[in-house]
Amino acid sequence: MKLIFVGDVVAGLGRRTLAALLPGLRERHRPDFVVVNGENAAGGVGITRKTAQELFELGADAITLGNHAYRHREVYGYLDQEPRIIRPANYPKGSPGRGHTVVEADGRRLGLINLSGQVFLSAVRSPFSEADALLAELRGKADAVLIDMHAEATSEKVAMGWHVDGRALACVGTHTHVPTSDARVLPGGTAYVTDVGMTGPRGGVIGVKREQALERFLKLTQVRFETSDEDPWLNAVLVEGDADGRARSIEQLLLPVPG
Ligand SMILES: [Fe+2]
Ligand SMILES: [Fe+2]
Repeated sequence: MKLIFVGDVVAGLGRRTLAALLPGLRERHRPDFVVVNGENAAGGVGITRKTAQELFELGADAITLGNHAYRHREVYGYLDQEPRIIRPANYPKGSPGRGHTVVEADGRRLGLINLSGQVFLSAVRSPFSEADALLAELRGKADAVLIDMHAEATSEKVAMGWHVDGRALACVGTHTHVPTSDARVLPGGTAYVTDVGMTGPRGGVIGVKREQALERFLKLTQVRFETSDEDPWLNAVLVEGDADGRARSIEQLLLPVPG
């Protein structure tokens, strides 16, 4: 099984970046599945029904989210209805949407789990015990499992990689918007990277116009944040798995928009 996981798509620029680069990646790598983190897809924060549908039209087979999942109330009903989009599983029971799913393509079944870290982020259950429960739940229902561990703390993501090693095809980190250089297959066969990065403007501060972010840091004043439009890149990983469910390789795809 081959899959591409795309880091947090930021606003319209991120969606245009995906539109510019994903078709070429699909053609070159022929992935069975493309999974996209869409937590910043709408205006830089959160996701709406319309932006989610746009990500599907651009070639996403499934969408994961993160701490901005509930920014736009209008998407709540869609999160309940659409099985291809998931928000962190360790959110309160009864919250809109679901935290895991299975998507199918050409007879292959990919299980997906979205988790939120607890360090500096709000989640009501440990992502570690949640991972245990959901990996057990998906046993026999999916040929491979990908976990999007959405977390601020590097340590929490590294720990999750070790925790699920040998039980998932891939465990990839999201949320910091900056790709880390530690992509590797862990000894048990799980492809891991601490952060995939983002698909959006590298010319800002993790997506925000740099003058605005700098003003907040320099003066501590309230500043309205807008999405930067400088230097768009696509950040993703390509994971290849063997028939036994172990990952063979994980490769970072870090690409600027040409021109
Ligand atoms: Fe994000
Ligand atoms: Fe986030």
